[in-house]
Amino acid sequence: MAATLEEDLTPYTGVDPDSAWRDEVRRLAKERDAVLLAHNYQLPEIQDIADHTGDSLALSRIAAASDASTIIFCGVHFMAETAKILAPEKTVLIPDARAGCSLADSITADQLREWKAEHPGAVVVSYVNTTADVKAETDICCTSSNAVDVVRSIPADQEVLFLPDQFLGAHVKRETGRDNLHIWAGECHVHAGINGPELAERAAANPDADLFIHPECGCATSALYLAGEGIVPSAQVKILSTGDMVTQARATSAKSVLVATEIGMLHQLRRAAPEIEFSAVNDRASCRYMKMITPAALLRALRENKDEVHVDVETAARARGAVQRMIEIGKPGGGE
Ligand code: 13P
Ligand code: SF4
Repeated sequence: MAATLEEDLTPYTGVDPDSAWRDEVRRLAKERDAVLLAHNYQLPEIQDIADHTGDSLALSRIAAASDASTIIFCGVHFMAETAKILAPEKTVLIPDARAGCSLADSITADQLREWKAEHPGAVVVSYVNTTADVKAETDICCTSSNAVDVVRSIPADQEVLFLPDQFLGAHVKRETGRDNLHIWAGECHVHAGINGPELAERAAANPDADLFIHPECGCATSALYLAGEGIVPSAQVKILSTGDMVTQARATSAKSVLVATEIGMLHQLRRAAPEIEFSAVNDRASCRYMKMITPAALLRALRENKDEVHVDVETAARARGAVQRMIEIGKPGGGE
């Protein structure tokens, strides 16, 4: 019987991320010609050891351009799959293959095929938080950082199916003013739980704070309502991808910022602008999938070549055009 991940990790329990662990990870990464990529929601010690930390779009672009032969993707499974689609000749490892995503699970390829059949001729725009099978049924993928630009690139008279996130979809619809954009009713359990009343309460208690809101959040509409009603000056309300939050942190003159997204984000923001006080709108907003990538699991990945990510050749070939269009559209940045 195959060993469980817990059994595999037994030799690594007690690794100290402050000392020998760092040296060993760096040594093995060099020996293996591996590049370490970490999403902004990863544990601080994983973000700190990575070669590049960033948002989904930036990490996809880095994976596509890297000349390392192995990519260690410290993030969730769809991100590692996207890297494999873009760089099929590379070995792509994720330190724990169980790191899934509730949003990606909210639509299957069969459900998408049925939806497409109801709207023949519509252009399918899928958020990158989808499985490779869903991407294979997609015309253009997008991330939170370029979703608006991707939809603007589609002729105004063509119907669009936007999936799977309803809050990002509402944001794109508002920004583009399109009536012919149909939105799938999916959501991320972490972001949907950051709600409007909680945001309004925190904003009232911190009237000078900027609000950095991820468009997957249940409170994004409320944030724009607060701005529209003048309850919070509209210049203080910013709907941003995780990478754009870091850019904005360096640019703002605010002394405090309320952050509505997964709490791993705070580490990168505090590093970018140590003089600003960043606090979470909801400090329980932690993604258990992102946190499965532990220091012990990263060490195991490097030592034992686990868990390797595979995407079957035909699915990858069908998905690649949509993912490539995604990395070509929108401004550079979002990671470093
Ligand atoms: P971005 O990093 O693209 O903003 O996405 C956030 C996210 O929820 C990834 O799961
Ligand atoms: Fe998926 Fe939400 Fe976790 Fe992001 S925070 S990986 S969207 S479950």
